Amino acid sequence: MRTQVGIVGAGPAGLLLSHLLHLRGIESVVLEARGRDQIESTIRAGVLEQGTMDLLTETGVGARMRAEGAVHHGFELAFEGQRRRIDLTGLTGKSITVYAQHEVLKDLVAARLAANGALYFNVSGTSLHGVDTDTPSIRFTHDGEAQVLHCDFVIGCDGSQGVSRAAIPAALRNDYERVFPFGWFGILVEAPPSSDELIYARHERGFALVSTRSPNVQRMYFQCDPKDSADQWSDDRIWAELHARVDSSDGRHVVEGRIFQKNIVGMRSFVSATMQHGRLFLAGDAAHIVPPTGAKGLNLAVSDVRVLSRALDAFYKERRTDLLDAYSATALRRIWRAEHFSYWMTRMMHRLDDASPFEQRLQVAELEHVTTSRAAATAMAENYVGSVAV
Ligand code: DHB
Repeated sequence: MRTQVGIVGAGPAGLLLSHLLHLRGIESVVLEARGRDQIESTIRAGVLEQGTMDLLTETGVGARMRAEGAVHHGFELAFEGQRRRIDLTGLTGKSITVYAQHEVLKDLVAARLAANGALYFNVSGTSLHGVDTDTPSIRFTHDGEAQVLHCDFVIGCDGSQGVSRAAIPAALRNDYERVFPFGWFGILVEAPPSSDELIYARHERGFALVSTRSPNVQRMYFQCDPKDSADQWSDDRIWAELHARVDSSDGRHVVEGRIFQKNIVGMRSFVSATMQHGRLFLAGDAAHIVPPTGAKGLNLAVSDVRVLSRALDAFYKERRTDLLDAYSATALRRIWRAEHFSYWMTRMMHRLDDASPFEQRLQVAELEHVTTSRAAATAMAENYVGSVAV
């Protein structure tokens, strides 16, 4: 088999890259270890920055997002029994859309298949070869048959546990990591929305987040022990925790409903630099992880492949290599901005077991500041909608 660009991983980075390359007349093959059903049903994040929404729309895969996603012009910060709004649109002119990641994946898979794109699901034994030569290849097994895919470039979009990152020699790579000693307990609930906008809550008992998926399905999270097991939590205990952390003293409260999904995710910050080696380029979670606070993960994957698709286009159309050479440095500017924002918001909003009472009051002081100073609120809003210049 031969193609121009071999893509490992059919997550947001891999599928969107394949779609963007197709629109530029560049051929690719996407290899995915999981099944199509699995990627189309795994519950992940759900906030799309304005730039992500615009890109999906401009490239013809935004119709369902526009019809079914919810546009939000602000969010609320809950602390000390009150709620204060961050007016995203008033402060930045931009907004966000709440639309689940697996719905974005469904739309991208459908677009690739409609264009006869080559997508291989359930592949195993993937390995990368000759990435530091001009003739790299990917070996894998599909339907019981060993295959070799020869390509001009290999793009690693296979997440933090994938094989691609390890194909960059450790001596050329710096890994930067911070593991947080807490996780998020996530639930899906059959209920009407508790609020018109997302609520990020800081409370002595820990962080909580009220988000949405549709008029009838809500997504909520609360800080927990990452080693805890979801079965240990009865519905009553979950609601008690959410009420304690989110309800405000003026009577506004979380609306209960039937919980039909529970999961726990760990939290860490991670960056692996460089993101390229010879003909291998990493994009999305293969190169970096953010804690979910601030919802940057999917949006960073999108910005990586936007940069990469332009660089590959310049290579194929004009034989230019400057944009490819600069890929890692270009992508990392935005990645480090998002790493800082996600870390900052995580530290401001979560119960930190090593924080002294003094530092806990600093968290509240900072929340007071970002909700009263227009300059501070604007900085937060620009980061949240993804409009900071980098
Ligand atoms: C959601 C996830 C996030 O990490 C966040 O910051 C906001 C919303 C969500 O899944 O809806």
